[in-house]
Amino acid sequence: MGTKFFKIAVVYLVIGVSIGYIMGITHNFSYTSVHAHVNLLGWASMALFGLIYHFYPKAGETKLAKTHFWLHNIGTPFLTAGVFLIVFLENDALTVVPIIGSNLVLIGIILFLINVFRHVKKENLSS
Ligand code: HEM
Repeated sequence: MGTKFFKIAVVYLVIGVSIGYIMGITHNFSYTSVHAHVNLLGWASMALFGLIYHFYPKAGETKLAKTHFWLHNIGTPFLTAGVFLIVFLENDALTVVPIIGSNLVLIGIILFLINVFRHVKKENLSS
């Protein structure tokens, strides 16, 4: 689970910094929230999930971790692409897309919390 999260996190990092780079050179900052969510939910959060599942393999092997993985990885593209489309098409009617995404991400993060409280403990730490 750790490896999967790391690999996907790096892809989001490349996309996130590229959006930042393009905003910087074009001086068009309308996509700041897309850039911030790609970097923070895609890169930073997934890299941290990966680290925790790597160091606590018991947590990474659970059904909770698998469900969390899928909810986060379906929710994040819905959220980020949804915000991108709202800005690009100037159409607020699409707000439902990031709302679906954010609900999936939030449910996944609640499962992550349960998993951390159950399995992240000293005796489960792997070096
Ligand atoms: C090559 C790397 C990066 C470039 C060129 C870049 C560029 C930018 C630019 C141009 C903005 C808009 C600033 C504005 O609206 O005035 C921005 C905002 C932001 N960036 Fe980046 N960025 C980079 C990497 C990152 C990374 C790695 C993260 C997080 C892990 C990040 C998080 C944010 C956040 C949270 C904002 C919103 C700040 C706010 O609205 O106050 N950026 N970035």
